[in-house]
Amino acid sequence: MTAPSLPGQDVVEELKQLRQQIARHDYLYHTLDSPVIPDVEYDRLFARLEQLEAQFPALITSDSPTQRVGSAPLSGFVQVTHEVPMMSLAKVFNATELDEFEARIRKRLDTHAEIRYSCEPKVDGVAVSLLYEDGLLVRAATRGDGVTGEDITHNVRTLRDIPLRLGSGNAIDTALAIPRRLEVRGEIYMTRSGFDAVNREAEQSGGKSFVNPRNAAAGTLRQLDPRIAARRPLRMFCYSVGVLEMNDDATSGTTKGATLPTTLNDTFTLLEQWGLKVNPERATVSGVAECLAYAEALLAKRAGLDYEIDGAVIKVDRLQLQADLGFNARTPRWAMAYKFPAEEVSTIVRDVEFQVGRTGTITPVARLEPVFVGGVTVSNATLHNMAEIARLGLHVGDTVIIRRAGDVIPKVVKVVTGQDSTAVLSDVKMPEHCPACGSAVEPDGDILFRCSGGLVCPAQRKEAIRHFCARGALDIEGLGDKLVEQLVDTGLIHDVADVFHLQAEQLQSLERMGEKSANNLLAAIDKAKSTTLPRFLYGLGIPEVGEATALALVTHFGALDRIMAADVQALEEVEDVGPIVAAHVQHFFANAENRAVIERLQQAGVHWSDTEVLEQSDVLAGQIFVLTGTLEQMTRDEAKARLQALGAKVAGSVSKKTTWVVAGPGAGSKLDKAQELEIPIMDEPAFVTFLSDHY
Ligand code: IVH
Repeated sequence: MTAPSLPGQDVVEELKQLRQQIARHDYLYHTLDSPVIPDVEYDRLFARLEQLEAQFPALITSDSPTQRVGSAPLSGFVQVTHEVPMMSLAKVFNATELDEFEARIRKRLDTHAEIRYSCEPKVDGVAVSLLYEDGLLVRAATRGDGVTGEDITHNVRTLRDIPLRLGSGNAIDTALAIPRRLEVRGEIYMTRSGFDAVNREAEQSGGKSFVNPRNAAAGTLRQLDPRIAARRPLRMFCYSVGVLEMNDDATSGTTKGATLPTTLNDTFTLLEQWGLKVNPERATVSGVAECLAYAEALLAKRAGLDYEIDGAVIKVDRLQLQADLGFNARTPRWAMAYKFPAEEVSTIVRDVEFQVGRTGTITPVARLEPVFVGGVTVSNATLHNMAEIARLGLHVGDTVIIRRAGDVIPKVVKVVTGQDSTAVLSDVKMPEHCPACGSAVEPDGDILFRCSGGLVCPAQRKEAIRHFCARGALDIEGLGDKLVEQLVDTGLIHDVADVFHLQAEQLQSLERMGEKSANNLLAAIDKAKSTTLPRFLYGLGIPEVGEATALALVTHFGALDRIMAADVQALEEVEDVGPIVAAHVQHFFANAENRAVIERLQQAGVHWSDTEVLEQSDVLAGQIFVLTGTLEQMTRDEAKARLQALGAKVAGSVSKKTTWVVAGPGAGSKLDKAQELEIPIMDEPAFVTFLSDHY
């Protein structure tokens, strides 16, 4: 047996340097979001540290970055009694209640002076307490019932935005005073983008998905094996201090370089200096009116944040005033949660109906008992397809949880009908005949179903007309979904060409249509007659031909008759046109009915120039997008054309320079890479909103 080699002073020094450097880069990367070295360089430092520690295991310290992931899972959780109880917050829902909160404070403090408040997002995650002794993270615990929680140190140590040693990210600032004891509280949460990725992975590997980011965060922190937490995108924002004891030379009011905080705002500055993350959206304001303005501005930002919030927290900023105000039984008198509309509520599925799309796809839609969720009343939620219904185990009559968070499309996330429910449930079945035209419904691939009626089907006709009139196509102002529905249902129009033969009297015979609106609509229809060829071509609604493909076809062929006459081979010469798109185009123009509609449109006066369809701007100049996975509302080409028209670049692979990744279902390695590099990720609904916000 060879004796273990003895470390020399040089090894001790190198280990110290490596740990300091890695802690600094962790802080720059995870806390400040501004790394200064490439990943390979970081990996090299980490590998060297691991190598030295393997050689000299006696020199491993508990704050070494290698110790973030402990290897052995725990056999159970240890209870922790909080030194200072972890309170919860009283709630208000409107301005009046917030005024009353301030009135109570004034009365108790017997003051008319203006009160300063610290306002913060109320992050929807898991409340935790971190204990640092002499700068070292020694314990992390859940809030539990406020008095006793569970020790989750093994999992919390894996979060890279939590320092294992205070101030270790600020290696340069040697003057920074480190507290003897600090017990800091905050919220551990999962990012929205990280949550989507975790669920996608769970679905792919046949695992169980989480209902929302909060459950995912809580579920992860409750694991005995810390390797699970190490793989999940958890973060923390600190929001209060339970215990703060400085060293003796600092308790008199000044520390070596820092003054003991007298306000929450100062406390946050101090926490930041120690390398703890506090919410960048926080603000200090004067008076309750400014609190309200803060809460309203935060609500407007809600959908754009990469974490879920359920309100704003408003706290008296001055710590002495907090102490003067004290506590009620369970809540501080100096703090209040201003709650936002819930993003998840339960309701009942009254029915499941089937909608027919432009190309005949049949989609199940849940008709719900109307509920207020995410700030709007929702009475429908798409169920996507039959596989989704099976996955949810959904029946008509079930009580379900509806979620409308960030994006605008409400989703059924879970069935919660209890065992003892008396609800009468019935199975959901795909109809054999199209609900709109009675034609046979046929399976299309493994999970989709389609109406075989084509343009005989009024539902498909309506969708085709809507598409033709919509933005991006002929853009007829005032001819929206409802009106198209009325026009088709009353038999005034059968196809897109009929739109241009509408008369004022016919329009006025419709419900809620006065003379003025009718004339405005006719003027808009007249204006739309003069269009561009790419718009016209896109408007025809040929499957797989989005705006970018339409533009590419026009650029290549120059005129409609040439596109109509092109065979599959000629079509495939167009950039980005493959055999499937080529076949759709060829098939569309081979159809005599379609050709007749085009002729009638031209006879009605529709004409075009061959210029570009997309208005150019440079609002996204300098931004680099990567598109991955399938998009459902537009083709990738179209997404690309739209981004380019706004001045953005669209790249084929993800790098540190990438500003956004747009990920649809089926996204793979590019999405993994984006998560690894912490590039912000949008799903398709967010992308569609993003585009319309920038047009
Ligand atoms: S302060 C004594 N600030 O909301 C003050 N809480 O019911 C205690 N929360 O359990 C909390 N964001 O989990 C505070 N910026 C924030 C918060 C926040 C989220 C949670 C926390 C607490 C619950 C209050």
